[in-house]
Amino acid sequence: MNEEEGTRVHDHPVAEQLTDFMKTGWAPSPLDGITQAAVASFSAQRRAKLSAAYPGLRLILPAGAAKVRSNDTDYRFRAHTAFSYFSGVNGLDALPDSVLVLEPNDNGHEAVLFVHPRSSRDSEGFFKNSKHGEFWVGRRLTLEETQIRYAIAVRDVETIENFLADDKDALILRGEDRKIDKQIEKHKKKEEEFASVLSAMRLIKDEFEIAEMQKAIDASARGFADMVRVLPSATAVSRGERIIESAFFGRARLEGNDVGYDTIAASGSHACILHWTRNDGDVLPGDLILIDAGVEVDSLYTADITRTLPINGKFTPQQRQIYLLVYEAQKAGIAAVKPGANFRDFHLAAQKVLAEGLAAMGVLPVSAEESMKPEVGLHRRWTIHSTGHMLGMDVHDCALARKEQFLEATLEPGMILTVEPGLYIHADDELFPVEYRGIGVRIEDDVLVTETGCRVLSQGLPSHPDEVEVWMSNLSRS
Ligand code: GLY
Ligand code: MN
Ligand code: MN
Repeated sequence: MNEEEGTRVHDHPVAEQLTDFMKTGWAPSPLDGITQAAVASFSAQRRAKLSAAYPGLRLILPAGAAKVRSNDTDYRFRAHTAFSYFSGVNGLDALPDSVLVLEPNDNGHEAVLFVHPRSSRDSEGFFKNSKHGEFWVGRRLTLEETQIRYAIAVRDVETIENFLADDKDALILRGEDRKIDKQIEKHKKKEEEFASVLSAMRLIKDEFEIAEMQKAIDASARGFADMVRVLPSATAVSRGERIIESAFFGRARLEGNDVGYDTIAASGSHACILHWTRNDGDVLPGDLILIDAGVEVDSLYTADITRTLPINGKFTPQQRQIYLLVYEAQKAGIAAVKPGANFRDFHLAAQKVLAEGLAAMGVLPVSAEESMKPEVGLHRRWTIHSTGHMLGMDVHDCALARKEQFLEATLEPGMILTVEPGLYIHADDELFPVEYRGIGVRIEDDVLVTETGCRVLSQGLPSHPDEVEVWMSNLSRS
């Protein structure tokens, strides 16, 4: 960018006469019928909780700045989760550089949202500024429109430096906005604690969040159907995994904001590479393909679902045997998800089934019981990752929560987590008979803890091998 904000080296200078001309002849362009967003009452409750935890302190939550992809080209903007959770601002309304401030007052805090207002036709920015101008990036909300939609006081972000200049005691979510970071005195320890509190407050989902999660999951299920439909074209080209990945991306952009994380489209033995996002492999009939994908809806909630599918629509006996073992492990895991259970219980329940299955196949050099001891764990050679995590606006949600609130805590109604056991037999694993080598299976579902147990939010997507075969066959005919 040039010194004049928002202009680039290849932009031609604009004559004064043109500047004047550009300011004239425009009809008013109000947004009619703008109403309060459904999220607004929920975000107000969330802020009230945060306010109660930090009396007298100014709290600063930046949305983050645009991130450079290369030179003057940025990545698609995605607001910081804490900003969006506490402000409610999401979708295309969430703009780079926005900041939520909770300003202490006699009653707790007043929330003030700082944003770039729309660049109206009487300013020059609307056609000159390629970063923010409406001719370049489209119409934004005015301050008043933002205030109505999100039921929060709104100010121009240009005024935030002044607003913060009084050096009031403040806590900031550091690392998101360099300009504001510089202005606010560092309190390393307290800021780390603050980030942890912000993360932990999302452990239990409210009604709005559960509905949004269901939307993300349902859109993802449609994305999985899209991927099955393109399997024939994926097998017809080299690097067919990319065909699968792009079919899901199309669904994510159509129904949501983006994918919640890079899609894993892992055909054949690529399934054994846990984070196979290169997706440059061939898709071959007779192999399995492991697909781990989630749509992130506009409110930023994401699904996280894995299915392992026979590319030609039918499991071989060996594939089915490994698949069924993972299927049973997942069933045991899901049965262990209930209020009052320890977070680790569902992992251990699923691992026990896997260890027993591996012992029965004669590949474990110790008994399943011995292997399940934390100081042994030999079965984990074939299942190294944990069986699940919290899920929400971040795919690995609430990751900064303290151990006692998450890993070492008990489950409570309103938590949403994944249950995702897997078995991965690498192509060069000499401990398994040759006909099993290169098989990797994971089944991942998204589960809501209820008052009495749990509900599998992704149950619309079949996972029993018989049902998977029928589903794929129906899709190939539709
Ligand atoms: N998609 C990443 C995970 O399953 O945790
Ligand atoms: Mn996943
Ligand atoms: Mn997951």
